[in-house]
Amino acid sequence: MTKVKKAVIPAAGLGTRFLPATKAMAKEMLPIVDKPTIQFIVEEALNSGIEDILIVTGKAKRPIEDHFDANLELETNLIAKGKNELLKVVEETTDVNLHFIRQSHPKGLGHAVLQAKAFVGDEPFIVMLGDDLMKDTIPLSKQLIQDYEKTHASTIAVMEVPHEETSKYGIIHPEGQVEEGLYNVKNFVEKPSPDQAPSDLAIIGRYLLTPEIFELLENQAPGAGDEIQLTDAIDALNRTQRVFAREFKGKRYDVGDKFGFLKTSIEYGLEHREVKEALEDYLIELGQELLDKKTVDEVPETKEEQ
Ligand code: G1P
Repeated sequence: MTKVKKAVIPAAGLGTRFLPATKAMAKEMLPIVDKPTIQFIVEEALNSGIEDILIVTGKAKRPIEDHFDANLELETNLIAKGKNELLKVVEETTDVNLHFIRQSHPKGLGHAVLQAKAFVGDEPFIVMLGDDLMKDTIPLSKQLIQDYEKTHASTIAVMEVPHEETSKYGIIHPEGQVEEGLYNVKNFVEKPSPDQAPSDLAIIGRYLLTPEIFELLENQAPGAGDEIQLTDAIDALNRTQRVFAREFKGKRYDVGDKFGFLKTSIEYGLEHREVKEALEDYLIELGQELLDKKTVDEVPETKEEQ
């Protein structure tokens, strides 16, 4: 059996949800406390046993390449000042086999993944979307690899979402479980409205795919949003070979929208060695202030209102 050694991270998106911050900067470089979001994704890949990572980039994405490259000037400076801990932090970012390809005409997620065809060759591989940070005792990509080792089949990570949010995700039509949390799938549907959604199990940005997906992507007609959708090609793949869905039971952080990004920053901050105590005190204080304010606002002002 071929070992899963490669991962693909699509990172060509324009990041319009974070304008103006993303006008001249890659959204993947927005930090959660002190680490760019894409570094969390790369670390999940490495912790899952991935050896080579292809990042599909576009305009304004050069900082991603620079981030994972050595910075001799900075390193020399840190050495001279004896800042060994920081030096270690900086050096860790270069300890990875990264490859880059530009997607010159972004035509959707399916089209971005298609750019990885030559890199992937004839091997199973992982696709990791940068908007989703996953936390669990076993990294989610590794869970998918473990499933692949048993089934030799493509497996897509899914998670239950509120019913009214199905139109934000690819949704599966599950057809029974082969083991706890591993579903057979009848159909994969991209962004169905709640009244059309076959379930509340949403695709959450980690995919283990067999290389046969590329032929399907090459012939995939545009779907939802007039884009070449990965979900549609997976649905086609599921008609020629088994594709499973693995339900993720850990915690998912959506850093792709403003509120999700703020929540992630706070929760990761509460675990960050340098700031966790100060942040906790601050949040308790702020929470109390907000609560007091709310209580005052809610007290009726006049007798008539009582
Ligand atoms: C993409 C996929 C969708 C998936 C989602 C997960 O959508 O097309 O199937 O559920 O990622 O985050 P996007 O968020 O890029 O619109």
